[in-house]
Amino acid sequence: MTPDGGVHQMFTISNRTDAPGCTTVVQPDFTSAQQSNNIIFRQTTPTFGTGLIELIQENDIIANKNSNLARKTGLGISGHPNYSDDDGTITRFGWKAQNKSLLYFAGEAYTVEEGVSDEAFPSENDESIPSCLPPFPVPPGTNKTKGVPDDRSDTGEAPKLPVNFPGDLERFSLFMRFLAPPTPVAPTKSTSDGLVQFNNVGCNMCHTQSFTTPKSTIAALSNVTANLYSDLLVHDMGPDNADNVPQGNATGDQFRTAPLWGVGQRYFFLHDGRTQDIVQAIELHRSFGNGIYPDSEANKVIDNFDSLGVSNPQGQQDLINFLRSL
Ligand code: HEC
Repeated sequence: MTPDGGVHQMFTISNRTDAPGCTTVVQPDFTSAQQSNNIIFRQTTPTFGTGLIELIQENDIIANKNSNLARKTGLGISGHPNYSDDDGTITRFGWKAQNKSLLYFAGEAYTVEEGVSDEAFPSENDESIPSCLPPFPVPPGTNKTKGVPDDRSDTGEAPKLPVNFPGDLERFSLFMRFLAPPTPVAPTKSTSDGLVQFNNVGCNMCHTQSFTTPKSTIAALSNVTANLYSDLLVHDMGPDNADNVPQGNATGDQFRTAPLWGVGQRYFFLHDGRTQDIVQAIELHRSFGNGIYPDSEANKVIDNFDSLGVSNPQGQQDLINFLRSL
């Protein structure tokens, strides 16, 4: 198997009574892919507050990118947005900021991760086994048939859906759009100092504290300050963090600055969940170039974080307490 940067199905379903003849779907050959070191793992990104992230204006993302330039240059931080091939605008969801909107994000996940073709991705994602392609009789034994896509809005045609409502994608995206951002715990002396240290060592040069949404037709999302702690840009994170998967204009070692709201409640950190220790998650930002990928843009900030641990151990602890409070 050659590296293709694609998501492959871990589970397959054969022998469904509503898909007669479809008996032979096989799992991709993960064993040999693993032997040739051709598997990478990604955990899911949190979806709280994504309705706000969806509305943040491009002008604000670019203005923030162009702020504090002298300090960023001194620290080796640049970063750039990922862009949509469709309309050239900034994309923002996913570990590589590769998805434009919650509708697309839901559509992609539905077909790629769950195998359900839908209105954004109407083809079956594997057309290699003819007996596993529609039309299928629905319900089994009748002469009514089901075609593609699997999921769609109810347009009143047979076979009727159980509810007269938009398709699942609209419902998934509405659900995510109105998930409130995580609520941080009330500040203490320690967490307030932690925020100061976070800014002093330079974490905020990527983990931008907040953006404000523009006026929106959706009242709940209009003119809201979103404390997401991300610049929504992708940055080089170096060879040790690379997953070798380019997506849009994010290269194999580039990742979106992970929003830190809610990070105090998470069990696994970084795109592949490689650590459960938040201090390790910070140290793992450090990585040196190898000729294929450059140095991590975070190296100097992580040096500052380590120096803080020497000059002011309580300040470093406060920084961690601040993260845990988010
Ligand atoms: C050069 C930009 C940059 C700087 C500087 C930076 N980060 Fe990050 N941070 C990222 C990126 C990109 C990720 C996601 C990396 C990945 O998933 O592999 C991330 C992820 C994290 C995570 C894990 C979040 C999660 O959901 O898994 C934590 C915690 C974190 N950063 C804290 C910090 C702290 C604290 C500092 C300052 C000491 C800092 N970061 C400095 C870019 C940066």
